Amino acid sequence: MCGIFGYVGPRDPVPLIMGGLKSLEYRGYDSAGIATICDGKLAVRRCSGKLKNLEDLLVREPLAGEFGLGHTRWATHGRPTEENAHPHRDCKGRIVVAHNGIIENYLPLKRRLTEEGHRFTTETDTEVIAHLIETYFKGNLEDAVVKTLTELRGVFAFTCLSADDPQKIVAVREGAPLVVGSVDGEGFVASDVPAVLPYTRSILFLDEHEVAVVARDGIRLMDDSGKPREPKFQRITWDPIQAEKGVYKHFMLKEIYEQPAAVGDTLLGRISQDTNQVHLEDVEFSAAQWKSFKHIRILACGTSWHSALAGKHMIESMARVPVEADYASEYRYRNPIILPDTLFIFITQSGETADTVAAQRMIRQAGSKILTITNVVGSMTTRVADAVLYTRAGPEIGVASTKAFTTQLTCLYLLALHLGQLHGRIPETAARQALTDLKMLPQKMEKLLENAPAVEEIAKALFRQSDFLFLARGVHFPIALEGALKLKELSYIHAEGYPAGEMKHGPNALIDENLPVVFLAAYEAGNAEAHQRYEKVLNNIKEVKSREGIIVSVGNEGDNDLIESSDHFIGIPPTNEFLLPILEVIPLQLLAYDIAVRRGCDIDQPRNLAKSVTVE
Ligand code: AGP
Repeated sequence: MCGIFGYVGPRDPVPLIMGGLKSLEYRGYDSAGIATICDGKLAVRRCSGKLKNLEDLLVREPLAGEFGLGHTRWATHGRPTEENAHPHRDCKGRIVVAHNGIIENYLPLKRRLTEEGHRFTTETDTEVIAHLIETYFKGNLEDAVVKTLTELRGVFAFTCLSADDPQKIVAVREGAPLVVGSVDGEGFVASDVPAVLPYTRSILFLDEHEVAVVARDGIRLMDDSGKPREPKFQRITWDPIQAEKGVYKHFMLKEIYEQPAAVGDTLLGRISQDTNQVHLEDVEFSAAQWKSFKHIRILACGTSWHSALAGKHMIESMARVPVEADYASEYRYRNPIILPDTLFIFITQSGETADTVAAQRMIRQAGSKILTITNVVGSMTTRVADAVLYTRAGPEIGVASTKAFTTQLTCLYLLALHLGQLHGRIPETAARQALTDLKMLPQKMEKLLENAPAVEEIAKALFRQSDFLFLARGVHFPIALEGALKLKELSYIHAEGYPAGEMKHGPNALIDENLPVVFLAAYEAGNAEAHQRYEKVLNNIKEVKSREGIIVSVGNEGDNDLIESSDHFIGIPPTNEFLLPILEVIPLQLLAYDIAVRRGCDIDQPRNLAKSVTVE
């Protein structure tokens, strides 16, 4: 996610643009920039780091202008440097673009434009937009934009302006949000409502495949083929702070609902159903290098360690490469034995967790190959790695990790599938099915989120309990750990994740009528091994039931045996065994959230916790 703000009108655009970017900083904050047109000339100021750095630069090097646009970045392609900060220009420095999202086909476009003589100066996907508009520009900016759109693929929104077609900003929505406002001879465009609210409450939400021309005399709307459309403004009653969270009460809830889009973004450009292949070109390992890894060790902390455990199951089952998953905080002090031909994978949402980065530095010194899976471009973990596989979850503000976790699982599944194919372990038909399952995942997550009211009912019944157990088997066990962590870090209730098969070795003593036990009992239809695990979980449920325990189960939609054995049941849509974790964690996230809300806990900043644990 990034923040875009543009202004056309009689006032000095710079303070308005900077104010707009400030209210959008929650959408991205690793670099920022601003561009204005003054006396027919384009002027640009850009900075890496927080928006404050740009504010300081503007004090040192003031910017004047008649109209302009600005951008605060959350990097997806290209490090968060000044050079990669938006807005980006064409060759002649007459057109600028500020962009949010992913241009999936930017590499072939960049190659072709370079052959045509365009000079690129950044690592970003965004820059191809500026050079394409330059190619098509014949004096009218929106005409050039409409032609440019015929060549772009991906999920994105952008705004652009030209010194040669002044006093207008052209805004495009192809999957990422953009809003516009127009009042008393002034025009505004922004990534989200908070930035426009101080000027007008009459807002136009651009629809998919729409183009808006924002000028002093109002807004002209068209579809992405240039056909005019009637603008429909809405009256917004939100206050600006509330608007950052949109319709959601907390950032964490917003991020739970962003998961389908985050998983979709993480998949963009990485799976091809035509060739049945996974494409990890953005990971700097050759096929030979991938195949040379005889062992894999995954190191992480907290929720990221849970995804590491799930990754172990995925990679060992699909690629038959031995995997160990360790707490980074433990591994680094254990004087570990490092086997040759081992790939070390570090998983960290923030990319700054002290224990994880310290362990990474230790492995770097030992000379083993390192891949990091992270959500933050340019974070410390990326600088101590040989290769990086980015989750594309966008900024995760809530301390309790949600969309970072499900996008980590998505990356691990892609990795397992890629390795399995390289090792010839996955037949064509299985690969095709796996990619279809992946492609369908975001819409199944959307459907599952419709179950939220049913989860709320369970929270209503159980929020006063003082202890919870979460039980599962196989690849679902790490999700039991994650569900327990979510509940304890949000509601301060003691909760424990445990392998269901271990209950008889002690924890059964805990069971009584006051103990809710949450079972993960979903399984892949037609998978004999998974079904066998499921039957054992069903037996565990009966054991708990016979001791008066309270049964909460998450299982296959319509599983009557499970429904009849449970006090509370949440059904999840079918998918393959190793993608089920991405679905079944959602009701656990919602359960923890709903219980914590009922207990009056601080959702986005739970006590004693920090979003990024940069100290040991
Ligand atoms: C998860 O909800 C917690 N906030 C915490 O366990 C977190 O996952 C852990 O601190 C690791 O953070 P990282 O992924 O940024 O390294």
